[in-house]
Amino acid sequence: MTDTLDKPVLEDGGAPEGGAAPKRLFIKTYGCQMNVYDSERMADVLRPLGYAPTDTADGADFVILNTCHIREKAAEKVYSELGKLREMKERRAAAGQGGMTIAVAGCVAQAEGEEIMKRQPAVDLVVGPQAYHQLPELLTRTARARGERIGADFAPNEKFDALPATRGTEGVTAFLTVQEGCDKFCTFCVVPYTRGAEWSRPVAAVLDEARALADRGVREVTLLGQNVNAYDGEGPDGKPFTLARLAYALAEIPGLDRIRYTTSHPNDMSDDLIAAHGDLDALMPYLHLPVQAGSDRILRLMNRKHGRQKYFDLIDRIREARPDMAMAGDFIVGFPGETDRDFEDTMDLVRRVNYASAFSFMYSPRPGTPAATMAAQVPDAVAKERLHALQALLTEQQVAFNQSLAGRVLPVLFEKKGRHGAQAIGRSPYLQSVHVDDADQLIGRIVPVEIISGQQNSLSGRLIQTN
Ligand code: SAH
Ligand code: SF4
Ligand code: F3S
Repeated sequence: MTDTLDKPVLEDGGAPEGGAAPKRLFIKTYGCQMNVYDSERMADVLRPLGYAPTDTADGADFVILNTCHIREKAAEKVYSELGKLREMKERRAAAGQGGMTIAVAGCVAQAEGEEIMKRQPAVDLVVGPQAYHQLPELLTRTARARGERIGADFAPNEKFDALPATRGTEGVTAFLTVQEGCDKFCTFCVVPYTRGAEWSRPVAAVLDEARALADRGVREVTLLGQNVNAYDGEGPDGKPFTLARLAYALAEIPGLDRIRYTTSHPNDMSDDLIAAHGDLDALMPYLHLPVQAGSDRILRLMNRKHGRQKYFDLIDRIREARPDMAMAGDFIVGFPGETDRDFEDTMDLVRRVNYASAFSFMYSPRPGTPAATMAAQVPDAVAKERLHALQALLTEQQVAFNQSLAGRVLPVLFEKKGRHGAQAIGRSPYLQSVHVDDADQLIGRIVPVEIISGQQNSLSGRLIQTN
């Protein structure tokens, strides 16, 4: 799954639920969409204890940093944030305003454990990504004995069974985790160590959660998994169920009009899933299928277990099934041993695939992963130069794709109010934001919009006059 450039993607806000003076909960989320989902679920778990989300750490009774370990920068950000929180906590105590509990959750918690408490004593508890359903219990225990860490074991089934059936979701789009973990062990990546082995939620549990979301007004659901297309859940008859079959079942739910999924691995892109893109209208024509590099030699060193030709063949077949499929990807430049020639293979692959959007990163050595100790680490300056060249090409492709939609009429799902007047912001089938004037009465609806222009990160459109 793609992380969002190490930026915090969610500062949890929302309306407190009735009752007397709620305790204030602030969750800051780093990393990928799965962390966004997990943060929402942490708020769900804590709601019965009287915690209501607030949008600032200042004055919060409980602060959770839901962290990402994917690159060094992502992990280091957590420690600088913890430094600020410590000062806040001390100020609050000195002013007699009560305590502030600080928790570190997510992938840094899983990877670094007690180390976090050593480096930052202001931290009260550390909870891994498969253990946050135990937060209520942990909180009471923390009051007695600070310094405990929990969540080293991977038991996603127990977590999902223990999470409340109701989600506090507001809005018309939602994430829904259907698969967790990774067995692929790409040589650069920490995810198999922070999220554990591949595991799929049973079909019935996914459908129940999706129905409850649809009942709350959700029209578009994004199925999440570190390898979501490896989904292999237990079906109603006890037999395995693929992601394609899950998509068909979800499409039957009244009100649920759009289905997306992320992130997919090329080796798990099965025939039935490709075929589903051809005949299931609810399946949106946007596919995030990271390849990481375009050189066969580097793909081998990365342990990706496929070559560039297999990727090209896959994309041909996907585009045969769904000719307007917008492709997205992730790239790493400066992987150990990457030569100018290897990098040129990546540029060539990008030119041939033509991406609608992509994330690209400089390789960051992660402790404990095989690539971190490989010979021939690429100097930063070289990697930086390659990153700039790649990003320029990807931006060019993204802008061209967005501009190519001008003049087209696209169904847009309106999600929220825009910044100006009655403007509303929605999403196209290809996942771009679409800004439309005088449309705020349409939030929650899917409406045809004429695209006027495409910018780098969004589209502008107008409602079609229907007299
Ligand atoms: N399961 C997803 C990846 C999750 S991590 C998948 O296989 O596509 C999100 C992205 O971060 C990866 O696709 C990769 O491009 C990038 N990434 C992972 N480890 C990295 C590292 N050590 N240095 C730089 N980028 C990395
Ligand atoms: Fe990481 Fe590779 Fe697994 Fe993706 S497939 S999570 S990049 S190990
Ligand atoms: Fe980061 Fe963990 Fe997601 S390392 S990208 S938060 S799975």
